Amino acid sequence: MDRMDVTETIAGIQLPGHLHTAQSLQYAQEFKFREGDIVIITYPKSGTTWMQEILTLIYSKGDPEVATSVPNWERAPWLEHMYFKDVLKEGEGPRIITSHFPSELLAPALQISKAKVIYIARNPKDVAVSFYYFHKMAKFLPNFDSFSEFLQSFLEGKVSYGSWFQHVKGWHEQKKNLDMFYITYEELHKDFRRSLKKLCRFLGCPMYSRELDEIENHSRFPVMSQNCMVNYTLISQDIMDHDQSKFMRKGIVGDWREHLTEEQNAEFDKVFQEKMSDCDLRFIWSL
Ligand code: A3P
Repeated sequence: MDRMDVTETIAGIQLPGHLHTAQSLQYAQEFKFREGDIVIITYPKSGTTWMQEILTLIYSKGDPEVATSVPNWERAPWLEHMYFKDVLKEGEGPRIITSHFPSELLAPALQISKAKVIYIARNPKDVAVSFYYFHKMAKFLPNFDSFSEFLQSFLEGKVSYGSWFQHVKGWHEQKKNLDMFYITYEELHKDFRRSLKKLCRFLGCPMYSRELDEIENHSRFPVMSQNCMVNYTLISQDIMDHDQSKFMRKGIVGDWREHLTEEQNAEFDKVFQEKMSDCDLRFIWSL
């Protein structure tokens, strides 16, 4: 059987076999973080690639050389992916590691380390829309006949990578235990410069204003969407079909308004209230 048809399962969560193996998941769970590591954690489609680019540019002081010559999966590899071991670089700067793992799998290892964690959350309605299009283009993910079918599975947490609600809540609860920078996709959008400065402070990386200008310039959506080191056009068409949808699709806030019907929106709000009622997290978007 082709690995594209295989699914790996961990903690009840399904992950595409194209990128994960039983061994890679085991390795990820046993991984020893160390002081200086920077770990980007997200539920898929929440701004992972954007943050990988921002961090690359912070550590290059705004010079786009690395960002435009090394693929993001090498600069900031996913801990749970099968190629992780081979690409994790021991260079001069910090190790930048990415993960979509839920907190129950990763938080214990992070708690006993001094790694810095960056968590990005995004309005789940926009995540659902973005994820639906990603399922269309990424041939290693299951096929859904319609957006409404996908939405139902998303709300039930029965999609690859598990429940958005559990992911966001679980990591929010870890704020007190970890050296964590918690930010939303919407905050990055609303005031990029302010978010960037806060992030640089968290990382202990002072920046000149012209360096911030460069970082801002090179991590803008129109620039990133043309950068083949992050827009996934290096991946072959039979794995990621850009005719179905671009990876760098729209990069906007509130695209859900173009996709959810009134009924779907009401149902979403209901599920959100139910699942998030025990969470004191306040988001800048209004559902
Ligand atoms: P859309 O599908 O809504 O356009 P991830 O990297 O976690 O998979 O998230 C992908 C989403 O982030 C996509 O959302 C993509 O367009 C968006 N994105 C990537 N880079 C961005 C940028 N520089 N500015 C805004 N959005 C960006």
